[in-house]
Amino acid sequence: MRDVTQPLLFETSWEVANKVGGIYTVIKTKVPVTVQEYGDRYHLTGPWNRYSAPVEVEEIEPELPAIKTAIDSITAQGVQILYGRWLIDGAPRVILFDIGSAAHKLDEWKGDLWRVAGIPSPPHDTETNDSIIFGYLNAWFLGEVAKHDTEHAIIAQFHEWQAGVGAVLCNKRKIDVATIFTTHATLLGRYLCAGNVDFYNNLKHFNVDEEAGKRGIYHRYCIERAAAHCVDVFTTVSNITAYEAEYLLRRKPDGVLPNGLNVVKFSAMHEFQNLHQVAKERINHFVRGHFYGHYNFELENTLYFFTAGRYEYRNKGIDMYIESLARLNARLKACNSPITVVAFIITPAKVNSFTVETLKGQALIKQLEDTVQEVSTRVGKRIFEMAARGKEPQLEDLLTEQDRVLLKRRVFSLKRDSLPPIVTHNMVSDSEDPVLSQLRAVHLFNNDDDRVKIVFHPEFLNANNPVIGLDYEEFIRGTHLGVFPSYYEPWGYTPAECTVMGVPSITTNLSGFGCFMEDNIVNPQDYGIYIVDRRLKSAEESMDQLASYMFEFCQKTRRQRINQRNRTERLSDILDWKRMGIEYMKARQCALRRCYPDSFDDSASFSPYDRDEHLKLSRPQSIPGTPLIGADLSTYDLAALSISAELPGVRNQEDEDHDLRPPINLKMKTPLMTPT
Ligand code: UDP
Ligand code: G6P
Ligand code: GLC
Repeated sequence: MRDVTQPLLFETSWEVANKVGGIYTVIKTKVPVTVQEYGDRYHLTGPWNRYSAPVEVEEIEPELPAIKTAIDSITAQGVQILYGRWLIDGAPRVILFDIGSAAHKLDEWKGDLWRVAGIPSPPHDTETNDSIIFGYLNAWFLGEVAKHDTEHAIIAQFHEWQAGVGAVLCNKRKIDVATIFTTHATLLGRYLCAGNVDFYNNLKHFNVDEEAGKRGIYHRYCIERAAAHCVDVFTTVSNITAYEAEYLLRRKPDGVLPNGLNVVKFSAMHEFQNLHQVAKERINHFVRGHFYGHYNFELENTLYFFTAGRYEYRNKGIDMYIESLARLNARLKACNSPITVVAFIITPAKVNSFTVETLKGQALIKQLEDTVQEVSTRVGKRIFEMAARGKEPQLEDLLTEQDRVLLKRRVFSLKRDSLPPIVTHNMVSDSEDPVLSQLRAVHLFNNDDDRVKIVFHPEFLNANNPVIGLDYEEFIRGTHLGVFPSYYEPWGYTPAECTVMGVPSITTNLSGFGCFMEDNIVNPQDYGIYIVDRRLKSAEESMDQLASYMFEFCQKTRRQRINQRNRTERLSDILDWKRMGIEYMKARQCALRRCYPDSFDDSASFSPYDRDEHLKLSRPQSIPGTPLIGADLSTYDLAALSISAELPGVRNQEDEDHDLRPPINLKMKTPLMTPT
């Protein structure tokens, strides 16, 4: 009998050491808590990306004999595998398969997939072909490990449909491993929402096969659905996606594994506030250059809003953001507000390069800065010289004619006839781009009297960028508000990342994160988490609500913004993997019991999903409170949560806003959508 107390754990995803989107963030940030629990018994498997692997992974020799034997037997057949340590916090062991080196097997495996699972695969879908190879390699590997290690129980967790074939094959080949499939979205959900469909009200009525067929994703859908049905435990990342999966994949998830983050606490409590100021200064620098010639607003009274993510115009709510910004502009103008909002849109589109205007703006402001620096040095020397001679320096003596001319030339070069551009890059399809088209339709052109200015940066940020030389994290820190009004968002890391950095954000009740916050906090708004209602309100009303949230935010004083950031940052604890990781533990326990029932005495009665207490985090203390839900902390095993030291419930004398009670546990709730 396999030892269920010391299982081996294999976690499989296309985004292991291979960044695409949010799943990479899930895997990477969760590593430290999983390594802490599993140590050397934990491995991740992924595709061998020849471009990123050399910087992400350090090759080492496998130590566990069964793993070494499994790798040797696969590589003996010409498949290349990289075994190493992923160079991230926790340094987990990874097994990366070179998909190309197994391409000669593709036809054989496609035929086999059809025979054993009835899953078709058309010839030219490269992504699906890669997923099939990836799945067969994973199943081959797990089969070998299970054959050579009969001592340990084995858990294999597969993320998203791209890893789904491996899950299906474990079942079909009866490999002796406990399996979990975690989906981070449903394919159909994403496709349907991106079109013009009233998704949530029709969820129960879609003819799923037909809809998948119409969109050319039937084969992918088959992989996803088969994976959900073939595993011991099926999970997803939020209640909202669990509900969707029940109808679209026709299996109700066994549990929800909400996404956490690896929260880094600074020793000085206000360090994150200082970091905000430093990063904001860098954004200020960009803004001076970008708006040269029309820089008629006060940076002291300027707020930075942003949205960021993959370019899913409708799903990520970029459409709603732009419309609400136009409304905000009108409201700020109408009340003669002193505030200017610079609203960034950061999402990768097809581009050629930065525009000449964008580069020129940064170059001109740099030149001006350098000139002012030189002139100031000379002025300093003159003051010193005069003072040393006992002469009181007079203002007119300080600037020479030459300096004046130099400065005048720089000032003249800052004049321009055109308005500051709304986009920083040359777009491949400028006239058809949905963001640009909408900005034009709502007349957000960066006019002098506009109180809302736009910067559309159609590329992800990185520190080597010559225009905004900040990486994404630093950029977030420098902003005031993240705006993510998603229509389809199974979780949504972007507002969660804002939260742990103490930046308030706006999300919706159609995003997993938004619903999670609503479920766990009595009044999320008090903590700087604004939730737009996109479920029960019409689009028109939601846009108005979003515009109002942004307008209210503009009314805050600096002191209020600083206080709000403090509260927002305090929510980090509830998003920490030290807490969120517990749901993963439950899922693994459940899989072990279902796969190896004879090893447990209580498997028949065991259900990890219905014994939690559900408590909410109350309002911050400085705000008139709602009655607190009493919780006797002694009844919870806080040691197991390993967060006792940082619990927000421990009263902090220095901080009048501190919350009284921690949320203890999450509870899976059933129906989410109230049909309208
Ligand atoms: N992101 C990034 N650079 C950017 C903007 C976003 O690396 O300029 C990352 C962000 O940190 C987040 C991920 O992209 O972790 C997006 O994840 P999310 O769950 O919000 O959406 P997904 O793309 O998975 O649908
Ligand atoms: C942080 C810094 C303060 C700064 C403030 C600006 O709190 O520690 O020194 O004044 O940020 O806040 P604001 O919301 O105006 O960017
Ligand atoms: C998916 C979803 C996103 C989620 C991420 C990680 O890509 O679109 O909402 O945050 O997976 O679970």
